[in-house]
Amino acid sequence: LDNGLARTPPMGFNNWNAVRCDVNQAFMRKIADFLHTRKIDGRTLQQRGYNYVNIDDCWALPQRAQDGNLVVDRAKFPDGIDGMANYVHAQGLKLGIYADSGSRTCDKKGFPGSFGFEKIDALQWARWKVDLMKYDNCNQPADDNYERTVARYTAMGEALLAAERETGQKILYSLCQKGDRGISPFPWSPQIGNIWRTTTDIRPQWPRIKMIIGKNIPLHKWAKPGAFNDPDMLEIGNGELTQTEEQTQMSMWSIMAAPLLIGTDLTKASEEDLKILANDDAIAVNQDPLGKQGEQVSNKGGLRVLSKPLANGDTAIALYNETDSAATISTNAREAGMLSIARYEVKDLWSKKVTYSSGTISAKVPAHGTAFFRVKQVG
Ligand code: DGJ
Repeated sequence: LDNGLARTPPMGFNNWNAVRCDVNQAFMRKIADFLHTRKIDGRTLQQRGYNYVNIDDCWALPQRAQDGNLVVDRAKFPDGIDGMANYVHAQGLKLGIYADSGSRTCDKKGFPGSFGFEKIDALQWARWKVDLMKYDNCNQPADDNYERTVARYTAMGEALLAAERETGQKILYSLCQKGDRGISPFPWSPQIGNIWRTTTDIRPQWPRIKMIIGKNIPLHKWAKPGAFNDPDMLEIGNGELTQTEEQTQMSMWSIMAAPLLIGTDLTKASEEDLKILANDDAIAVNQDPLGKQGEQVSNKGGLRVLSKPLANGDTAIALYNETDSAATISTNAREAGMLSIARYEVKDLWSKKVTYSSGTISAKVPAHGTAFFRVKQVG
């Protein structure tokens, strides 16, 4: 969607993977403070680009007000969503909120959905100065089908643009239609939304992450500035993921130009996890202004090579081993889309070691691991 937002993939935090329905103002403020003040190797996560603070499901009261408006649950957010927006804006951060395109939200407690209330809700969020809205896909009308799904998401897209015309408030539109549940997100999602989910929910377990990567890779052609595939939020810091698997998520989300939305309670995260999230070289690949999603150039039985062209002429390369045993993965300049007669500087974006090559890029990659490089032609 060409609304001036998400020219590169959005970065920030969303509470769902960390605390689910137990969201409240104190927690979200703590996260905002962390992004804004906590330094990792000298710089904050906000300085590194993580600037959205997104509230997921469960912020509203179970019933709308007499006038039809959604009502914030003041027991959870004593200062309201507008108060939360003021708080994060004072830190130079942005606020995201969550809603549902059906009659009730996805959580089993079921808060009011926005179906039929698109204009009222969009206007209220804009007046609260909300900067992003994630639109979920639960409790659809009984007669739902492909066309009606597109219509529900389009109605909200139009309501957000109308609210922007009325208030000047731009809202990044995050479609959470869950692309692999029978309704293809294409070609409509990139036209009406800034990001769209390409799969069912992520979990902090390797098989789920591997499955999601496999489904998101072939969708590269839909990504461009203003419109990105969303393979769901980061699980770094959650569950039983190993450091190798966490580095794979960071590497693959970066090369696939995916939104980088932290999903762990940062105040409890280990120094190792924070360093993975704070990898500036990975972030630079993710945020590259060309806005291309890396393409798979080979896949030999789960030993995959992805290549992403970058604005300054460099190329990012990921050697991703989705198998359960260590293996050597190799590619070369020509296969990865570069000039084939040249000399290259190859920077390992995790170890930071620089080597030189006449075209071959190769690494021994642990099971579930990813070797991640930035390659520059130097001769
Ligand atoms: C399903 C979505 O896919 C999740 O990311 C989260 O928003 C939950 N719904 C909230 O109910």
